[in-house]
Amino acid sequence: MPHIALVAPLFLENTNRYVAAFAALDGVTLSVVSQDPERAIPPALRPRIAGHFQVRDVGDGGELARAIRGLTHGVGRIDRLTGVLEQLQLPMAEARELTGVPGMRSAAAHRFRDKDVMKDALRAHGLPVAASQLVGSMRELEAFIDTVGYPIIVKPQAGLGSRGTHRIESASDLGALVRLGLDPRPGHSLQAEEFIRAREFTCETVSIHGRPVWRSGTRYFPTPLEVLETPWMQYCVLLPREVEAPWTDFADVNGAALDVLFGDEKEVAGTALTHMEWFLAESGKLYVSEVGARPPGVHIMPLMGLAHDVDMVHAWAELIAFDRFTPVKRKHAAGAAFFRGQGAGSRVVEVRGLEAAVEKIGPALVELRAPHVGQARASGYEGEGSALVKAETTDAVKAALLTLVETVQVRYG
Ligand SMILES: Nc1ncnc2c1ncn2[C@@H]1O[C@H](COP(=O)(O)OP(=O)(O)O)[C@@H](O)[C@H]1O
Ligand SMILES: [Mg+2]
Repeated sequence: MPHIALVAPLFLENTNRYVAAFAALDGVTLSVVSQDPERAIPPALRPRIAGHFQVRDVGDGGELARAIRGLTHGVGRIDRLTGVLEQLQLPMAEARELTGVPGMRSAAAHRFRDKDVMKDALRAHGLPVAASQLVGSMRELEAFIDTVGYPIIVKPQAGLGSRGTHRIESASDLGALVRLGLDPRPGHSLQAEEFIRAREFTCETVSIHGRPVWRSGTRYFPTPLEVLETPWMQYCVLLPREVEAPWTDFADVNGAALDVLFGDEKEVAGTALTHMEWFLAESGKLYVSEVGARPPGVHIMPLMGLAHDVDMVHAWAELIAFDRFTPVKRKHAAGAAFFRGQGAGSRVVEVRGLEAAVEKIGPALVELRAPHVGQARASGYEGEGSALVKAETTDAVKAALLTLVETVQVRYG
């Protein structure tokens, strides 16, 4: 019986779904590592949890290793250490290395997490990525611009949620970067990249021992960068009904890129659900943008569930525990709209159009998390609330998403 240690930082709604999915698997011994105390485990899940270990910081590989040793002593040898958050992937790899738990090691985790290492590895294997360089000074940044030209993108080496990502179009933008104190310096390197004018997509892949067995994909409307650059824009994710181009065109690049990133660790680490962001450039060329060796965010898990009539969280847990996945067919289109406020201010002061939107969309609406007055302003492109929709055609989902973002208005004050 495999013994799974799941890192669940805090017992919040989304995390609890993953705990519940492992808890629901027959033939699994489940232990949980968290920052929350044992009493915070939802009562319904408690009987299925064989061991719990509290740590101060789930982001600390040494602490996770201590948890593994404690759980090994108390419950038994651990076969898998897993967790869904991007920020956990490196510390978990370190902890596996320190304790001998099978699975992804630091070198591979870095290839996924570090945008510079990832792009270098892919480029070395002839895979299409934007020209990029880790720059540690303004001189290096200027030299990079001399080679690739404007516009460029700068971002943190291990970013998340587009935070700290900026488009630099001119020398004056470059000056602004310096004035904001965001210029690269020794000890504060930045990832600089050629700007790809493109539509942005995702490819979710289930691999077993490094071999892709199933794919799904979405399109971002508009790109996360455009959303953050434009104060009034609201963001949507579309999962089309058809399994077709350009998603199918990307499959080979996706497979080849994962092969490079997993490296020689495919036996255990190569059993994964990965989330790859990619570009279809105006030139028609496909580029790998970035990859996570973890389930996707921005509601892509529930969207995949809706489109394929499957519980993706359960399927993922089964994949990790037993190297098992039953490929599922696409049956519907699905989409997510994210509500994001307009105006200045740090709180939501008005939410308009919710009822009208609900009425217009009708049965396509699956789930609504309404933003509410008084809510603190969110920093990212995911905004203060969201809606999930599902329909028989891609066009119907597109129409529903458009209705949502056009009708619902959130105002800050
Ligand atoms: N080279 C690039 N060309 C064009 N747009 C880019 C490029 N790199 C990033 N972006 C835009 O910035 C967003 C955030 O960048 P990404 O590398 O995905 O970082 P994060 O880890 O913060 O998601 C992307 O979703 C995309 O919209
Ligand atoms: Mg990204």
